[in-house]
Amino acid sequence: MKYSARMDEVKPSATLAITSKAKALRASGEDVIILAAGEPDFDTPEEVKKAAIEAVNSGDTKYTPAGGRLSLKEAIKRKFKDDNSLDYDVSEIVVSSGAKHSLYNIFQVICNDGDEVIIIHPYWVSYPEMVRLAGGVPKFVKTSAEKGFKAGEEDILSAVSGRTKALVINSPSNPCGAIYSREDLRKIAKICIEKDILIISDEIYEKIIFDGQEHASIASISPEVKAKTIVVNGVSKSFSMTGWRIGYMAGDKEMIKKVNTLQSHSTSNPCSISQAAAEYAISKGLTEEMERNCSKFQERRDVLMKGLLSIDKAKPFKPEGAFYFFCDISGYGLDSMTFAERLLDEAKVAVIPGAPFGDDRFIRISFATDVDTIKKGITRIKEWAGSL
Ligand SMILES: Cc1ncc(COP(=O)(O)O)c(C=O)c1O
Repeated sequence: MKYSARMDEVKPSATLAITSKAKALRASGEDVIILAAGEPDFDTPEEVKKAAIEAVNSGDTKYTPAGGRLSLKEAIKRKFKDDNSLDYDVSEIVVSSGAKHSLYNIFQVICNDGDEVIIIHPYWVSYPEMVRLAGGVPKFVKTSAEKGFKAGEEDILSAVSGRTKALVINSPSNPCGAIYSREDLRKIAKICIEKDILIISDEIYEKIIFDGQEHASIASISPEVKAKTIVVNGVSKSFSMTGWRIGYMAGDKEMIKKVNTLQSHSTSNPCSISQAAAEYAISKGLTEEMERNCSKFQERRDVLMKGLLSIDKAKPFKPEGAFYFFCDISGYGLDSMTFAERLLDEAKVAVIPGAPFGDDRFIRISFATDVDTIKKGITRIKEWAGSL
């Protein structure tokens, strides 16, 4: 069988590979500490589950419009207004089967072969692969821990070429938890307006923010910037609903139409029951529960930070949001894959290597798990690293 050349370009997800290995070890009876999760460990709120059960019982089990039902889009419209001061018409919103699906659709709709998409390092593993799947070319912008893992004007300008189509911004970021302030975003937006570059703003970690910081959506900087931006969000991380697969985007009406068309010939509508659950969660906001989860994440971050700082040669970057540490392990003289594989094999702790996020000197450590597990993990990493 001769497979498509397109797939030759795409690498399998390294994050899934190490997690599967860790889970297989655990299933075989090993005591494995998993600090690799890409999803909140909290359960979906009870009332959201009830909304889904009600949807099933009332026969809400049929096709909906491909881009999501109107009542859900109306709830999303209100969310954008209340949380981000953004006014969208429902015709500027489309619902997909997760934010990953929203992003995949965007790249399919905007890229011609050879079009370039600027991706800021360290980046979520799927961005480059999704761009490649659409025939585009990822152009990476290097940042550093010293600069807060944020790209400045010069960095971005140096990546712009005649083929630049779009730029992806992810704040708070996976894998490092960096947050772009409104001022940071204003500078990036200015370049994108001047150079006619579409801004794709992935705001999936919007609600997981620490130390009283605020999330700013780049689209809210000015009407001009809003017109050049597609905002992507979803319920996976904010409402602990990763398995329900609901994401959404808002932006230019023409683009939304094209995404609708693509979706109507590929996945059709996102699951009707999940739409009902997401509509409930987004309409209610569930602020108290979300704030409680957020403060638990912050407590875990602080425990992990303290632990990592006590490990010789480990240099953790303190996240301001999301639930991951990006930690420099280059002092040990191992590449990130070898470090992560040996840590799993020899100390039974699962973390994700930094290479697929664009930096082989780092590992990603998730704190989407309880404090006791984090403490146990730290003890093992410290002992193992000390023996290297
Ligand atoms: C930065 C980022 N964007 C988007 C997603 C996709 O989220 P979902 O498809 O579950 O909505 C993830 C999930 O890990 C992520 O980390």
